[in-house]
Amino acid sequence: MVNRMEKTALIDELLQGQRGTGVQYAMEILLKMGELYGVRRFLPVQRAHIDAAAYTTIWDAGREFIEFLVDNNARVAVPTTINPISRDRCNWRAHGISEAFALKSERLETAYLRLGVIPTWTCAPYQCMNVPAFGEVVSWSESNAVNFVNSVLGARAERLPDLLDVCCAVTGLVPEYGLYLQENRAGDILFDLENFPEDSFQDSVMFALLGYLVGEIAINRVPVIRGLPGKANRDQLKALSAAAASGGATALFHIIGVTPEAHTLEEAFQGRTEYPRIILHPDDLLRMQRRLNTAEQKQVDMVLLGCPHLSFTELQMVAETLGRQHVHENTQLWLQTSHTIYEMARIAGIIDILEQAGALVIRDSCLMEMEYSDRWRGKHFVTDSGKVAQYAPAINGARITMASLPDCIRAAVAGRLPEGGTT
Ligand code: F3S
Repeated sequence: MVNRMEKTALIDELLQGQRGTGVQYAMEILLKMGELYGVRRFLPVQRAHIDAAAYTTIWDAGREFIEFLVDNNARVAVPTTINPISRDRCNWRAHGISEAFALKSERLETAYLRLGVIPTWTCAPYQCMNVPAFGEVVSWSESNAVNFVNSVLGARAERLPDLLDVCCAVTGLVPEYGLYLQENRAGDILFDLENFPEDSFQDSVMFALLGYLVGEIAINRVPVIRGLPGKANRDQLKALSAAAASGGATALFHIIGVTPEAHTLEEAFQGRTEYPRIILHPDDLLRMQRRLNTAEQKQVDMVLLGCPHLSFTELQMVAETLGRQHVHENTQLWLQTSHTIYEMARIAGIIDILEQAGALVIRDSCLMEMEYSDRWRGKHFVTDSGKVAQYAPAINGARITMASLPDCIRAAVAGRLPEGGTT
């Protein structure tokens, strides 16, 4: 297979070690993976995003790999942002993280800094500074971020496996496979939304429920959604991206009239006329919500917002919804964001409002990337995130209630679910 792969002068240069043993090693790994994927060539990229930043994701073995690369002169070849780490660098003690664990995380962070990454430590780099253009080929990982840049921005990305994303960042090359190929970006399955009132998609939780359901049915096919009432903003599409990548393995979706490769049904399916069609009604989303809601108790231990990381606008909305209310003494309100957004919100006075209300604003990290402990086992989390609903029970042993932002805040203030249930 490898002899059919196009090898450029650049690849030969990297394989000969002219840019150091670390990059040579990374290129050799990429070639092996390229053979497995059956790729014909590699594509140059001008930007990258790395997923494997959390110590709880790659542990010591992964850290040794990054250290091996940097000790052998590898550096990222293109501007490269990076996912959340396993601690808030400024406030990790407040989150119950042990000294020993923080040191392990710090060593991994240091390795990445030596590699030359831009220390965004966020899973929503498209909210900070890494915003690919339409049609741009990028080296990308982190399931929500891949789905977002493919679907919402129209960039070309694939879900690169952890550490392979690092190899791509240091070589500046990606194997051309999957969604890098135009023909694989066509829709495979149509979801028609019927009987949804015009105002039914106001809150991100509805986008999360829709995304989760569509992802679960589509699995790794490209879903096309038709009939979304009203408009969708980027925060809502972020919620859909994360949930679809969690409920299934969606890395690209189209919404007719909303996303950039789907002005028409014909464009979304690239002219194909035969595909399965699923009709979704409001009751289907309600059933999805009931299935994800695993909590039986009314008392709320944690309200968790910011998976993926909250934008400035979302932090602003939380502060406005909280107003002068205070978080209940038996409940925690965690708000996860990047330190870039945090700093802007701090300058705008939003962080003060949130902290005075008793919220904990977490930078650089998120609960699910932090040190595992039994602290949250069996506890009741209220969230608007489909990704939390999928992973928190598995990772933290939590019970879940999915709720809209206003209901999340009501639950945080009352310490209980609102009477009459959540929306
Ligand atoms: Fe981001 Fe952590 Fe959720 S990395 S997408 S906040 S699990």
